[in-house]
Amino acid sequence: MLFLQIPLLAVLLTAGDNDDAFQEEFTFKLIHSSSFYNHSWVKSRNSLWLGDLQTHGWDTFGRVIFLRPWSHGNFSKEEINKLIEFHRLFSIEMPHELHRHASQWQLKYPFDIQIIAGCELHPGEGKVVFLQVAYQGTEFLHFQNNSWWPSVQDEIKAQLMCRRISQYHIANKIIQRILSDTCPRFLSSILDAGKFDLQREVKPEAWLSTGPNPGPDRQMLVCHVSGFHPKPIWVKWMRGEQVQQGTQQSGILPNADGTWYLQVFLDVEATETSGLYCRVRHSSLGGQDILLYLEHHHNSVGWIILAVMVPLVLLTALAFWLRKRW
Ligand SMILES: *[C@@H]1O[C@H](CO)[C@@H](O)[C@H](O)[C@H]1NC(C)=O
Ligand SMILES: *[C@@H]1O[C@H](CO)[C@@H](O)[C@H](O)[C@H]1NC(C)=O
Ligand SMILES: *[C@@H]1O[C@H](CO)[C@@H](O)[C@H](O)[C@H]1NC(C)=O
Repeated sequence: MLFLQIPLLAVLLTAGDNDDAFQEEFTFKLIHSSSFYNHSWVKSRNSLWLGDLQTHGWDTFGRVIFLRPWSHGNFSKEEINKLIEFHRLFSIEMPHELHRHASQWQLKYPFDIQIIAGCELHPGEGKVVFLQVAYQGTEFLHFQNNSWWPSVQDEIKAQLMCRRISQYHIANKIIQRILSDTCPRFLSSILDAGKFDLQREVKPEAWLSTGPNPGPDRQMLVCHVSGFHPKPIWVKWMRGEQVQQGTQQSGILPNADGTWYLQVFLDVEATETSGLYCRVRHSSLGGQDILLYLEHHHNSVGWIILAVMVPLVLLTALAFWLRKRW
C-alpha cells in the first residue's frame, strides 16, 4: 500500500505547485463508433475529448456541438469548417466502403467498428500521433507513416483492408497532416484558451454513508467525495495513521459541471468501526486534508438517545411524584 501512496503523493504535490505552464501530458482524440446492422443500416457516433473531458459532440443532424466556451481554440472559422467537412465526408465514405467490401473482407453483419485517433503532447515539446481501428472490440489495424498496417499479423481481414485503403493516397495524406500538424496545433490552442477552466481548483465536499450490508455482522462504509477539480485525488479509510487494507475505490466519475465524483468503500466487522475515518487529500485543500470520523455518527446517536432519555426519566419521576401526592 505504501508503495502505491508514495508515487500518488508525488503526483499530488507536483500538481499542487503548478505554475502557468501545464506539467502533464495532454491528449486530444476523436472517438468514433459505427454499428453495422445490415447492408443498408449503420448507426455512427462521434465525440472529441481533451483527456477525460469531452470538448465536442455531434447532434442527430450531424452538426458539431462545441461543448466548452474554449472548444474553438484559436482556429479560424474556415479552418474549423474544413475539418468538419472532411469528417463529414469520411463519415459517409467509410460506411459505403465497408458495406461494398463486407463479403470480400469477411465482415459479418451485425458488426461494430471503433476508431480512436488523435495526438498527445508531452511537456518537453514531444508529440505522438495515433489512429487505431477496432473490429468487434479488438484492434485490428492502425495508421502510421502515411499508410495502414494490420495490428494482428495473421488476420486476413486486416491485411486485405489495409492493402485497399492504403491506396487512397490523397485521403491518407490529409489524415497524416491532420494528425501530425492540425491536431497538436489545435490541442495547444485549446489548452491555452481553456487554461482558466482547466487549471481551476475546486474544493471537494465529502460525506459518509453506509452501503448495503455485505454479510452478517459486517458493515459497508462509504465515503463520498464530490465536486472537486482537478481530477487527481487521494481518499482512504484510515484508523490513526494506518490506511485500512480493505479500502476500495469506485471510478472517478464526471459531474455535469465538469467537476469529479468518487466513492471509497470499506467492508468491516460491525464491531470494528471505532476510530475509523475517511481522509481526503486534494490540491485545492492546500495541505488541509478533510477528515470525516465515523464516531460522529455514534456520538450523535448517543446524543439523541440522551436527549430522549433525560426528559423521559424526568417525566416518569414527575408522574411518580404526582401519584404519590394524589
Ligand atoms: C436493417 O436493419 C434495420 C434496423 O434493425 C431494419 O429496420 C431494416 O429493415 C433492415 N434492413 C434490411 C434490408 O434488412
Ligand atoms: C516512417 O517513415 C520514415 C521515412 O519514410 C522512416 O524513417 C521511419 O522509420 C518510419 N517509421 C516507422 C515507425 O515505420
Ligand atoms: C494559436 O495558439 C497557439 C498556441 O497557444 C499559438 O502558438 C499560435 O500562435 C496561435 N495562433 C494564432 C493565429 O493566434
